[in-house]
Amino acid sequence: MPRRKVRTAILISGRGSNMLALAKAAMNSNFPAEIVLVISNNPEAPGLQLATDMHIPVIAMDHLQVKSRKKFDAKMHKHLLDHQVELICCAGYMRILSPWFVSKWPRRILNIHPSLLPKYKGLHTHQRVLEAGDTHHGCTVHYVNEELDGGDVILQAKTKVNSEDTTETLSMKVQKLEHPLYVKSLAKVASSFDFSIL
Ligand code: GRF
Repeated sequence: MPRRKVRTAILISGRGSNMLALAKAAMNSNFPAEIVLVISNNPEAPGLQLATDMHIPVIAMDHLQVKSRKKFDAKMHKHLLDHQVELICCAGYMRILSPWFVSKWPRRILNIHPSLLPKYKGLHTHQRVLEAGDTHHGCTVHYVNEELDGGDVILQAKTKVNSEDTTETLSMKVQKLEHPLYVKSLAKVASSFDFSIL
């Protein structure tokens, strides 16, 4: 019997270009994951409309309306369980997940980060690459654990940094690498997903 697809949710906060790349890839019948839910902590995120256009259920949760991070994450956890989600992809989700939430989803949350981790955890990665005079830059898909941008690396993609590069050109170069890298990473994780642990 063929393996069924892994039920996957995507967490976003903004543009949603990585979300769109994953959702498009998941439409292929041979792709090992399906996107069953998109959640945004920002009700104005343009990505919500992109997901709706693809007929993916969306939930907008305004984090400004919920007092504590734990309460917000508990609400999100409930939505994920209600949709029988098995795997979570953070794609431009600009909010730190609480340790409580992370402990509920061990090795079941992925994130994409615009640097070659372990270099440049956190924000402003393109600027920091330029300031350091690095010859290479890139992006990483990794598991999420309790340490910010600190979980095990799944896959990375690299690009050269030229003397003419600016934060804008680096951002464009890295973004181009991100979409296929995230698709490949989700395929890798979903195709070896252990359904028995659920
Ligand atoms: C990406 O560059 C990702 O690396 C970072 O946030 C950005 C999200 O872009 N975490 P998008 O919303 O997927 O277009």
